[in-house]
Amino acid sequence: MLKKIAFSLFLGFGLASAEYGQKVDPAWLNYGHAHGECTVIPGAIRALGSGVLERSAVRELERAQEACRGPMPATALPGGAKESFGGETVVGTVDEVRKAFPNLPVPADLKLEGYWLYSKREGGGALTVIAGADEAGVLYGAFAALRTPAFPQKAGRDGQSMRSEPAMAIRWTNEWENIDGTIERGYGGRSIFFEGGKVRDDLAQASEYARLLASIGINGCNVNNVNNAAPFLEPDMLKALARIADAMRPWGVRLAMSVDIASPQKIGGLGTYDPVDLKVKAWWAAKVDEIYKFIPDLAGFTVKADSEGQPGPASYGRTPADAANVLADALKPHGGVVLYRAFVYNHHLDWNDPKADRARAAYDIFHPLDRKFADNVIVQIKEGPIDFQAREPVSPLFAGLEKANQAMELQITQEYLGQQRHLVYIAPMWKEVLDFDLRANDRSTPVKEIIAGKSFHRLLGGMIGVACVGRDWLGSPMAMANLYAFGRLAWNPNLTPEQIADEWTKQTIGTDPEVVSTVRKMLMQSWPAYERYTGPLGLQTLTDITGSHYGPNVEASENNGWGQWHRADHEGAGMDRTVATGTGYAGQYPPELAKLYENSATTPDDLLLFFHHVPYTYKLHDGKTVIQYIYDNHYQGAREAAELGKQWATLKGRVDPNLFEDVHKRLEYQTGHAIVWRDAVVQYFLKLSGIPDEQGRAGKFPGRLEAEDATLSGYSVIDVQPWEDASRGKAVSCAGAQPCSAEWTYSGQPGRFDVAVRYFDLQGGAAKFSLAVNGKEIAAWAADDHFPSRQPNGDNSTRYTARGVELKPGDVIRVEGTPDGDDPAALDYVEVETAGTEH
Ligand code: GCU
Repeated sequence: MLKKIAFSLFLGFGLASAEYGQKVDPAWLNYGHAHGECTVIPGAIRALGSGVLERSAVRELERAQEACRGPMPATALPGGAKESFGGETVVGTVDEVRKAFPNLPVPADLKLEGYWLYSKREGGGALTVIAGADEAGVLYGAFAALRTPAFPQKAGRDGQSMRSEPAMAIRWTNEWENIDGTIERGYGGRSIFFEGGKVRDDLAQASEYARLLASIGINGCNVNNVNNAAPFLEPDMLKALARIADAMRPWGVRLAMSVDIASPQKIGGLGTYDPVDLKVKAWWAAKVDEIYKFIPDLAGFTVKADSEGQPGPASYGRTPADAANVLADALKPHGGVVLYRAFVYNHHLDWNDPKADRARAAYDIFHPLDRKFADNVIVQIKEGPIDFQAREPVSPLFAGLEKANQAMELQITQEYLGQQRHLVYIAPMWKEVLDFDLRANDRSTPVKEIIAGKSFHRLLGGMIGVACVGRDWLGSPMAMANLYAFGRLAWNPNLTPEQIADEWTKQTIGTDPEVVSTVRKMLMQSWPAYERYTGPLGLQTLTDITGSHYGPNVEASENNGWGQWHRADHEGAGMDRTVATGTGYAGQYPPELAKLYENSATTPDDLLLFFHHVPYTYKLHDGKTVIQYIYDNHYQGAREAAELGKQWATLKGRVDPNLFEDVHKRLEYQTGHAIVWRDAVVQYFLKLSGIPDEQGRAGKFPGRLEAEDATLSGYSVIDVQPWEDASRGKAVSCAGAQPCSAEWTYSGQPGRFDVAVRYFDLQGGAAKFSLAVNGKEIAAWAADDHFPSRQPNGDNSTRYTARGVELKPGDVIRVEGTPDGDDPAALDYVEVETAGTEH
């Protein structure tokens, strides 16, 4: 049972953070500042040891105390709290605590990095103990104490305790940060580590990041992109990387690096990078020795090879095990490990070959190598066989390796999940994967036990989260729940996403029960909603696969070698991955699952089209046809996205006003963009299948005034690519610099309406728009956001909504657009939203 170690005091809003929060957002480590409450660790803090991590632990506890007491005299604490909960908080390793308090029931069997918290009422105060199995455990114990407030009141004279140990040894983030300061798939600004080809001079934020990571139990951070890693092994760079390692070390976060397998040739001057070549082996051994001179506690290497253009052992007819082992041998004397990514596939597959299947690649390549990897190699496996889609089956490779160590790779940055512009709490998806029982050898082997090393008795295992944080962390306050959840699940995969949501919300937003339950509900609904409006039934995220990975583009995945195919045609959709007639992928699973997925009738609906190509009239388990499900789900998903905004609106006045506004705006955008998704996918499948929507919605847009039907002045009609991203495939665009306009005569019911203007906010300029009724301007705004793509399409289709506009038949609605730079003020439609409008 969780016992709590701190208590909160409600101080009212307005307790401004003087120390933190201005330069770097403290995220969930604000100790109540964000919501006007503070977290207090009782009494005087006594450090028993002086190790670096122990000092960080103590400093953190003091920081929380200061944060609370700083602006307020201690005597002002309500309810005489200081007197009642004085006493002492003692911090040290179990050995140190045992020595100092021989009579306390200190556990003797605490596993590495684990902690034990204990509190007992003594006189008027409390004795609170934060003990770690080792220094790292002390640090994790301190953070655990700080995130479980309202404790010592409950401690009795016999004492209360809790212990916790990490489920797996390797708990790292991967940051895809480039040497020039950009971040691959990063949506939170520029790199916190690099700028202009160098390590940044100021690494304060790197250290703050390590502190955040430590607070959720993360113990490693790979700081550079898996692509283009060779320059990071240059001697000057190693020296500079050592500064990052120094910045993170006080938080127990060890630096790891991505390495390019061709480095011996690229920067070592050798004529080859063949991993079994003796010169190559010697080069790696010497390079690794050199690295450890600079970074004595380097955690290890991550390798992306033979994948998406990165060089690899295949160039020499060698295997991933050959490549991994040469690095592993070099790292072994120093205690380092190799995370070798199983994300190895041919991105020039033949689309016309019905047997070709990217999903097969990881298992086909790695399963035969099971016994070949050195002990300090860990195979890093993406949770699904493709690439972080809204839904994929669990990778069969987890069950296909019994001798090799394994780690699961998840993506915290929302590359395919709305790029942090959409609220998508991913913990429920991760949890499904962690709990998923692969039934290897016909026994219970849930993924969480495989990657913890339990199922196959492996020493090493873990979870890797691709975070890609930038100077604005993840670029969106709510997205930080994903980083938080990743760490908490890596520590304890038995936590529920709801528990984690509550923990995060209480620390980040507020402890008001109404706030906690509303945010929990929103978070829990967000991934299912996103899946519904972007690509249900295992179709994967129906996005621009070869470009932005953001807006809708149903065909982008087809007719190319990347292999993210859904094979939708006039008759049906889905990819046949059965053994009987398809690619055979289903046969990579252990027998029970292979059998389940082989048959469309036993395949769960949410993966049906991942495993089977079926006609649109195929009936799902509840009797609904596939095509009707596609229609219904997209309408439902868009409605649920709108719900998120409505739920948040109920928190006005209960949460920090700046946060309220920020999140409100984002959800308003998401509501609009979910409609772009809905309309794109629905009209695409309506046209492709030719089967009408039983509910009559598909292809009809009541209340919508299309730009191409308007009386245009200056604007010309364009075909939007892909066509499904605009209402009926058409929009209008304004060439030149002068304003253009579109006018419609309103013919609907009289009344007050919300009027939404759907326009394309392109990069390279900030076009201006205005909306007028009968010549009177109602609203004016600029298209100044930064969406992907320089062409009008679903990446940048957005909307402005004017609320409560008075309209009567005959009124003239006019939108004026003024281009700016490369932004031609393109316009899709105006929608007068009546009660019956699906919006
Ligand atoms: C995805 C992503 C790439 C990344 C790759 C990887 O394909 O789009 O940017 O490099 O994953 O995991 O290596």
